[in-house]
Amino acid sequence: MNLLTLLETKRDGQSLNTLQWQEFIAALTAGQLPDYQVAAFLMAIYFRSLDGAETRDLTLAMRASGDCLEWLPDPARPVVDKHSTGGVGDKVSLPLAPLLAELGFRVPMISGRGLGITGGTLDKLESIPGYCTALDAARIHRQVEDLGCVITGQTERMVPADQRLYALRDVTGTVPSIPLITASILSKKLAEGLAVLVLDVKHGAAAFMRTREQARDLAVSMVRLGQACGVNTRALLTGMDTPLGRCAGNWVEVQESVACLSGQGPADLAALVVECAAHVLVATGRTPELGAARSRARQVLLSGGPLDRWERMLRAQGAEMEIYHSLLASGGLKAEEAVVQAPRSGWVAGCDARLVGEVVRDLGGGRLTRESEVDPRVGVLDLRQAGEPVQRGELLARVRARTPGEAAAAAARLLGAFHLADAPPPPTPLVAEVITG
Ligand code: URA
Repeated sequence: MNLLTLLETKRDGQSLNTLQWQEFIAALTAGQLPDYQVAAFLMAIYFRSLDGAETRDLTLAMRASGDCLEWLPDPARPVVDKHSTGGVGDKVSLPLAPLLAELGFRVPMISGRGLGITGGTLDKLESIPGYCTALDAARIHRQVEDLGCVITGQTERMVPADQRLYALRDVTGTVPSIPLITASILSKKLAEGLAVLVLDVKHGAAAFMRTREQARDLAVSMVRLGQACGVNTRALLTGMDTPLGRCAGNWVEVQESVACLSGQGPADLAALVVECAAHVLVATGRTPELGAARSRARQVLLSGGPLDRWERMLRAQGAEMEIYHSLLASGGLKAEEAVVQAPRSGWVAGCDARLVGEVVRDLGGGRLTRESEVDPRVGVLDLRQAGEPVQRGELLARVRARTPGEAAAAAARLLGAFHLADAPPPPTPLVAEVITG
């Protein structure tokens, strides 16, 4: 395979065929291609884009670069998953996986780590002492068949081509390309052997896609390809101008997820968890009408069953349950705290999710590079949400940090995230649009 020829073809705006994409991914996975040529090739793709057939060929070749999960057919227990393009405070996967299992689905949720301001599901779960996110395919199978759900990381042997490509995209400014994002996300989701996939594509200040139009383009690209590959795929477009829920950070988001599973979490989080589950119920045909599907999902979420299943999942993945329970009871890992107080009375008109994410990242809760370690203790909690009235001096948020100085500095910065006004802002819908094909 001559990558220079492929690179020149793409540079000149022409399309590559199926065999060329397969050869590229095979050579990449075998370690036969130099980084400088792959980086130049990615830049050519970034500027010239890929057509639908090329995006499909690249995605399928990436999926085939490693192991795929295969499931025994069981029409009573379809294999389903949800993927979010990520945001601040987005912890939906944690309560959703056990809820979907409780609804009778098999859920092999392969999740990722956070980068920059976006939190990662694996980082949150790893704040639970002992919880293992490195399961091999046999363990994933066993746990999903026995318990209904797993939340774990990508194995070394699943879609290795994406690991190589993503690492290069990350350092060459080629992440924000719709065909490359589509191929990266869908190659991993297709490797899970799913029947149904619900995508939560976020738009707004703290999202990958800043505008709803960009989010729609990405959603349409992923839904079309998912459908073409035989997975019943749909996407919800949701806003990410304000954080989801009242907490952002690793352990604090576990706590908020447990509150959600106990019927005590914030309303916006519970509503999005229910919405995702309802779309799975509709897409699988279990409950064809969305209103009825929402009622069913809400009722099961509040039944206590998903909370019990969550604990069984933690136990199965090695969590030290005594420590976990004592952390929940005591409010969490020891950290220094500072508060943010309202400088005036009024209404919370907005809370800038990007700034909240930056504060959490800089406290040590997120990563500046893929190699950085995250600190499970730090974060923000008790965030007041848009539309809530506040009195002067009332709490707007609390900060947890490693030192008193860091806590005080973060609290001062976090105040800038709040926009207080004389009137409440107009309500925003939870889901802006649903893309089904
Ligand atoms: N998440 C992924 O897994 N890949 C991308 O390209 C972007 C977000």
